[in-house]
Amino acid sequence: MRSVSGVPDLRAALEELRREGKSLGFVPTMGALHEGHLSLIRRARAESDVVVVSIFVNPTQFGPGEDYDNYPRQMEEDTQICEREGVDVLLTPTPMEMYPAGYSTYVLQERYTEPFEGEIRTGHFHGVCTVCAKLFNLVKPHVAYFGQKDYQQSVVIRRMVRDLNFDMEIRVCPIVREPDGLAISSRNVYLSSQERKQATCLCRALRKAEEMFRAGQRRAAPMIGAMEEVFNEAPLAKVQYIAVVNPESLREIRRIESEAMVLVSASVGRIRLIDNTRLSTRNMNGASDERM
Ligand code: PAJ
Repeated sequence: MRSVSGVPDLRAALEELRREGKSLGFVPTMGALHEGHLSLIRRARAESDVVVVSIFVNPTQFGPGEDYDNYPRQMEEDTQICEREGVDVLLTPTPMEMYPAGYSTYVLQERYTEPFEGEIRTGHFHGVCTVCAKLFNLVKPHVAYFGQKDYQQSVVIRRMVRDLNFDMEIRVCPIVREPDGLAISSRNVYLSSQERKQATCLCRALRKAEEMFRAGQRRAAPMIGAMEEVFNEAPLAKVQYIAVVNPESLREIRRIESEAMVLVSASVGRIRLIDNTRLSTRNMNGASDERM
């Protein structure tokens, strides 16, 4: 594995491989790698000749009062994990390299970034789009891999890639969960044991929606009501949003025709958690797939 932090090193590492006609799969991350990240890396490994992973805790996507300074950083362990997973190039730029003095260009994605995470975390997607655009330009991958865990992020990035004519494909991979159903996240380690127990209310609420959908329910309102009841039994969890949306437009819908995404967000103690599931008449298990 080649570990590079500077842009010239990266260019040198990738130019030759690209010239040889190798396909390039890219997994952007903020590190503290867990099974969710590994699922993306393994998928990239299976589908591409060359796998590039980036680890960069991107300051521009954290709002004031968010956890930028305290975000888990474990570069040595992450490097070993990447090595073990057969990553070819590990890109670890510094904030100064990505945003040198005088930096003043940002990618603003409208509409898809307005509701849900965009409303709660002002400016968050602004930072995500900017850093992804920069990373895509640096790595120039054929395919980049994202997790369905951050569903809105995947929709926003797909839209940006289409709108700005990036010559690449975005593939979205299923959510990896703990045995009790909690979606794996770098922030889960900050939950106390009591909070950790109650945090499963997000996935339990989603399972409830799936059950109702399988039993024939197509109206959003009763589903949302039943999900709220699940949350009511977890006093440490405070719901931020529960929404049934069109998978492409992210607009809320009242009645599901053939497909919908259910998005939930709650804070448990001081930790914000998000989760989602796809409801589809084509896939009655409610399991996720990558059609968006
Ligand atoms: P990060 O939170 O490190 O996540 C990197 C990728 O891993 C994202 O595409 C995310 O959706 C995916 N992921 C996280 N948890 C997952 C899980 N349990 N199952 C499946 N995939 C999971 O998302 C970011 O970083 C940043 O916003 C980034 C895109 C790197 C831009 O800075």
